[in-house]
Amino acid sequence: MNCQQFLLQPFILLSISLLFRQISGTDFVINSFNSSNILLYGNATIESQILTLTNESVHNIGRGLYPSKIVTREANSSYVLPFSTSFIFAMAPSRLYSPGHGFVFLFVPETGIDGTEPAQNLGLLNLTNMGKPENHLFGVEFDVFRNEEFKDISDSHVGIDINSLVSDFAHDAGYWPDDGQPFKTVKMNNGKTYQVWIDYADSRINVTMAPTGMKRPKRPLLNATVNLSQVFQDEMYVDFTSSTGQLVQSHKILAWSYSNTNFSLSDALITNSLPSFELPKEPIFKQKGFIVGLTVGLFLMLVLASVVSFMLVKICQRKKREIEEIEDWELEYWPHRMSYQEIESATKGFSEENVIGIGGNGKVYKGTLVGGAEIAVKRISHRNSEGMREFVSEVSSLGRLKHRNLVGLRGWCKKEKGNFILVYDYMENGSLDQRIVHHNDSELLSCEDRIRILKDVASALFYLHEGWESKVLHRDVKASNVLLDKDMNARLGDFGLARMHDHDQMAATTRVVGTVGYMAPELVKNGRASTQTDVFSFGILILEVLCGRQPIDEGKPFLLDWVLELFKKDELLSALDDRLKEKGGFDNEEMERVLHLGLICAHPDPNVRPTMRQVVKLLEGKNPELVDESEEEDTKVYLLGRMKTNDNMWSDFSYSSSLSHSYPTFEKIRQGLSSSLSN
Ligand SMILES: *[C@@H]1O[C@H](CO)[C@@H](O)[C@H](O)[C@H]1NC(C)=O
Ligand SMILES: *[C@@H]1O[C@H](CO)[C@@H](O)[C@H](O)[C@H]1NC(C)=O
Ligand SMILES: *[C@@H]1O[C@H](CO)[C@@H](O)[C@H](O)[C@H]1NC(C)=O
Ligand SMILES: *[C@@H]1O[C@H](CO)[C@@H](O)[C@H](O)[C@H]1NC(C)=O
Ligand SMILES: *[C@@H]1O[C@H](CO)[C@@H](O)[C@H](O)[C@H]1NC(C)=O
Ligand SMILES: *[C@@H]1O[C@H](CO)[C@@H](O)[C@H](O)[C@H]1NC(C)=O
Ligand SMILES: *[C@@H]1O[C@H](CO)[C@@H](O)[C@H](O)[C@H]1NC(C)=O
Ligand SMILES: *[C@@H]1O[C@H](CO)[C@@H](O)[C@H](O)[C@H]1NC(C)=O
Ligand SMILES: *[C@@H]1O[C@H](CO)[C@@H](O)[C@H](O)[C@H]1NC(C)=O
Repeated sequence: MNCQQFLLQPFILLSISLLFRQISGTDFVINSFNSSNILLYGNATIESQILTLTNESVHNIGRGLYPSKIVTREANSSYVLPFSTSFIFAMAPSRLYSPGHGFVFLFVPETGIDGTEPAQNLGLLNLTNMGKPENHLFGVEFDVFRNEEFKDISDSHVGIDINSLVSDFAHDAGYWPDDGQPFKTVKMNNGKTYQVWIDYADSRINVTMAPTGMKRPKRPLLNATVNLSQVFQDEMYVDFTSSTGQLVQSHKILAWSYSNTNFSLSDALITNSLPSFELPKEPIFKQKGFIVGLTVGLFLMLVLASVVSFMLVKICQRKKREIEEIEDWELEYWPHRMSYQEIESATKGFSEENVIGIGGNGKVYKGTLVGGAEIAVKRISHRNSEGMREFVSEVSSLGRLKHRNLVGLRGWCKKEKGNFILVYDYMENGSLDQRIVHHNDSELLSCEDRIRILKDVASALFYLHEGWESKVLHRDVKASNVLLDKDMNARLGDFGLARMHDHDQMAATTRVVGTVGYMAPELVKNGRASTQTDVFSFGILILEVLCGRQPIDEGKPFLLDWVLELFKKDELLSALDDRLKEKGGFDNEEMERVLHLGLICAHPDPNVRPTMRQVVKLLEGKNPELVDESEEEDTKVYLLGRMKTNDNMWSDFSYSSSLSHSYPTFEKIRQGLSSSLSN
């Protein structure tokens, strides 16, 4: 009998005596999926007995459920049944798209959840219902994209989610080998198969994972206390859910077991001769070349060989020159190379207590150099050496960027195994987002401070866009990337790093980088960053800083939509931060002008947005299109004129719907399904 075809019938054991309680438990083992042992929703399919949640296309949502509800809690009591489940998954990378997003193992009360979203929402929840206890949702997420809005810790992590996509507990994906070796991280989306074990009893949960075929590691990846008695209903559906956005990955479940009584039932999963979904390596010499060579004969082969060797010599020479060039740059332009020991002792051996933040690429530590200078240290790890080389040359050119409103790069250090360390000046007053939203009253930024900060950021962006020999895009302008030095000057940080993140991917298309809420509509749609998408983010930053509200806030309308609504009602000034309004003492005219500027920067049509050169002038109160700069009064007229002439686009624009237009809502998929199911 073919192993792959082998299937234990799912069976339900009724009335198992469980700790003196008469409770029905559920046991099943599925080694190959078929239409009677799994219910499919959305884009999920079964391909050669494998549950395939999403296929190789954008904006998919797929869900596969165990066909019937299972008992999870003793009727009308707080006693949650223990359970043990295990499954084997693979995340198959795509040749055509950048990889990203993950899947969730879930307990849900209904077969479909209203208001779910694909992409980073993993086909779950939306901004309104996020975190609500009435979701009755418990899941373990396997996520391969770091979304700051969900406080994700890394781009390959496992998290425990309760009613929300913000994990209550999370850890980098991987395992602790039984022989006491250090933690081994795994790259979940490399197409290999991995086995997961999730055990729950008496409010304790363990999540363990390992490459398939390996014995279950003794030490769990995650162990936590979660009392599910209020989260679970008496009966729940249990399922896998995943989705794609612009980033695409095909999520596959190869086998699955579940039991309330037998915590070893996972032993019945077949773990050998499973397929792998790794991308084949590109052959170096194309077959065609050989065929031509063979047919034309020995003579031509010899010619070919000499041409090839000539080219190889050329390539080698060029490679050598390139390496030498990098060395030149390092010596000539770079801030100094620092020794690893120096950085290690400055950060007390990268101790956890020195962590001051978690950036897009890794942890950020505070450190003190021997001379007493304070530094911020960012540790970046790179997996392949190709990415590393590009990274080195790109950072070395960024090291030459110098501007008083950019966070200064002080030095760097390269560690073996692709570890790379950047050392920045330490910014005493932290990041802007902390000042805007969470602060005590003594730290409240005045109107003048806020305008000055915006001018600082504008001049840094102007420098990146035009002030240097080549155009540099920031790609992730947002309040948490604006840092305040000891004199409260604003400095833009993390420039270009978002870009470098790219090189680590095998991406054929541009990977969408940025933060939801600051991303221009056209960037969400086509993934192409430009100076205008930076200007859009800056526009949102203006609104955020003056209104004291985050671009996206749970339960509130999007900041841009809200301000736009007030603008249309001619009540723009009421958008200002209430705490500023209380204090008073600002120039209404000026505030209105800057709010107008914020709106025009965030205009849906990229061509209507001003350039950073114009923004800098407008912030100074100068009309960028008048040569005679004495005519200051005209800026308001200019801005309003510009907004009015493009009024028709404003009138039916809404940022939130511009985002969701590109995401088909789950509701639509569900409607499509119920009609196809009833046929
Ligand atoms: C699916 O598998 C079950 C056993 O779990 C089997 O009884 C059933 O015939 C299979 N259905 C199909 C359509 O292959
Ligand atoms: C799969 O997803 C695409 C994109 O969302 C959608 O257009 C298509 O109808 C879906 N297919 C099924 C079978 O639901
Ligand atoms: C993905 O699924 C859709 C509909 O379910 C199908 O039209 C499309 O061809 C599939 N794409 C791939 C690459 O399999
Ligand atoms: C549980 O409570 C509901 C109402 O709250 C009641 O209808 C139901 O009969 C109860 N079930 C059991 C088994 O007690
Ligand atoms: C979010 O989901 C709820 C239902 O749970 C729905 O009423 C609401 O309209 C959705 N919000 C958005 C922005 O899609
Ligand atoms: C979790 O793992 C620990 C350590 O291996 C073990 O002592 C404990 O019983 C496990 N808990 C559950 C619910 O499996
Ligand atoms: C879980 O919470 C319920 C009440 O919400 C309580 O009755 C129960 O004892 C708790 N269980 C554990 C193991 O703490
Ligand atoms: C449980 O997790 C904590 C950290 O959250 C860790 O210190 C502890 O060693 C873990 N216990 C086991 C048995 O893995
Ligand atoms: C639990 O499941 C395993 C794997 O199927 C089996 O070998 C074992 O006998 C089961 N234990 C009990 C108590 O049923």
